[in-house]
Amino acid sequence: MTERELVDLYIKFFESKDHKRIPGASIIPENDSTILFTPAGMQPLVPYLLGEKHPQGKRLVDVQKCIRTGDIEEVGDATHLTFFRMLGNWSLGGYFKKEAIQWSWEFLTGKEWLGFDPEKISVTVFAGEGDIPADDEAAQIWMSAGVPNERIFSFGMKDNWWGPTGATGPCGPDTEMFYDTGKEPCSEECKPGCSCGKYFEVWNDVFMEYRKTEAGTYEPLEQKNVDTGMGVERTVAMLGGYKTVYEIGVLKPLIKRIRELANTTESTRSEKVIADHIRSTTHILGDDQGVVPSNVDQGYVLRRLIRLAIRHGMKLDIPKGFLGELATMVIEIEGEEYPELVRNKALILDELEREEKLFGETLQAGMKQFNKMLPNLLKNPNKIIAGRLAFKLYDTFGFPVELTADLAGENGMTVDMDGYNKAFDKHRELSKQGAEKKFKGGLADNSEMVTKLHTATHLLHAALRKVLGDSVKQKGSNITAERLRFDFLYPEKMTDEQKKEVEALVNSAINDKVSIEMKEMHPDEAEKLGALGFFKDKYGDVVKVYTIGKYSTEICGGPHVENTSELGRFRIASEKSSSRGVRRIKAVIE
Ligand code: SER
Repeated sequence: MTERELVDLYIKFFESKDHKRIPGASIIPENDSTILFTPAGMQPLVPYLLGEKHPQGKRLVDVQKCIRTGDIEEVGDATHLTFFRMLGNWSLGGYFKKEAIQWSWEFLTGKEWLGFDPEKISVTVFAGEGDIPADDEAAQIWMSAGVPNERIFSFGMKDNWWGPTGATGPCGPDTEMFYDTGKEPCSEECKPGCSCGKYFEVWNDVFMEYRKTEAGTYEPLEQKNVDTGMGVERTVAMLGGYKTVYEIGVLKPLIKRIRELANTTESTRSEKVIADHIRSTTHILGDDQGVVPSNVDQGYVLRRLIRLAIRHGMKLDIPKGFLGELATMVIEIEGEEYPELVRNKALILDELEREEKLFGETLQAGMKQFNKMLPNLLKNPNKIIAGRLAFKLYDTFGFPVELTADLAGENGMTVDMDGYNKAFDKHRELSKQGAEKKFKGGLADNSEMVTKLHTATHLLHAALRKVLGDSVKQKGSNITAERLRFDFLYPEKMTDEQKKEVEALVNSAINDKVSIEMKEMHPDEAEKLGALGFFKDKYGDVVKVYTIGKYSTEICGGPHVENTSELGRFRIASEKSSSRGVRRIKAVIE
């Protein structure tokens, strides 16, 4: 079965259970500052899981592109990828455990569906932890479906709990489904969830009935939801009897080409890292909300992925300049499904070329620095380079520790890797603390302030178009409880007068005490109304249109305040360039 066939079959199955197909969202979360990338199908649905009404109803199904870099070290094994696609079916306050589990079982084992041998499926359920009870109901439903007790395993929060993806948000116990590959168990403890390769995780049904609060407690949600996730690449690999995900889809020809470039027939971890990372960077750059490499946030993750791909290319002795060719393959093969890759092809290739050049310069600067330090280093009688020095080369000059180790080796020395790792961990801990703080809040949080800033964002967007012209196009939006951030296409710096004019327009809408109205309609009708909604090919057949009097009409999922008088005074805190041709405004309401 191809990836396309699996996706079609899944959608067909859930459509037959009255689900509405919705388009996947961007991999750069919109309005949501709790996370950098969309890590799961549920993320774009967070406001609806928290109670906002979805225009397509309570039963949804889709396939979502995802980025996960949390387990980047595991990329190169059989199943981990930084970019993958996830199939999901949702119940937003509709059906719950019984239907979700029965349908999962039917789709997995039904002859006209995936047709897995039922005897090879094991499941895990939540064992209970803290104040939250064991999910006996889920276990019971599995038993009635025909899974014997000995293939139902119970685990705590570490294994059978999903979410929230940020510091706060919807979450709940889950039940996971595993396929037994027939491999011998690695030990007596080998159970579903073990990474030895015996059990392949196929699907996860999450029962989102809680919300984690800022205080770290779990509050029951008013509406009980179902969130499920099936990895497309993994499942297709498994159905085809392949040992790794690198034998299917775009990954297969990428690996073939990488081996040709490296002039080898040998299978290496490096080839897999390159294939995965080039695919994820192509999708990050090619997303309509896409970002470019930088030293902060998503841009930093992107830069790391590109540089890792280059370094693994160096390990395999692949001649320089190979990223563009591999990215072109991704665009050609996956561009039909993701037309944004084709639209943004020139940008993808330009940025990769630029980054490759920049990294080359970084490496040269690092070598120079190393050579400067060398005479002193050589005086050290035990021929060990201190970990903190290796870390400094990395931290200050971007020089990777593996290269320091190589250069050390060429000069008869070694690097104190323990010391390096310690320095690195300490640094990471500090930046993680910073990041957590930074990413607190966001629409996923649905706090009052965030909702206000969301309405202010609509007013700002409309005001910018009035003052700067209709060429202004939204590029991205990100909201925390402290401020809004709005990126838009515009080639020049705004003048002080223009900024004042925009502020005045937004504030007059606030002073006018306008009620905000929401109507559901077909996207074509919304377009006729002149509603802003630039990611139009991303909507289903019903959209919500929010109108703020004469000021703004925009397609949007919500939530918004009821009246502009709730907002307070609007002020632009800064306006700068965010990347080529894109301006970034940060604004507050006071
Ligand atoms: N959110 C869950 C997961 O990612 C199910 O979709 O596994």
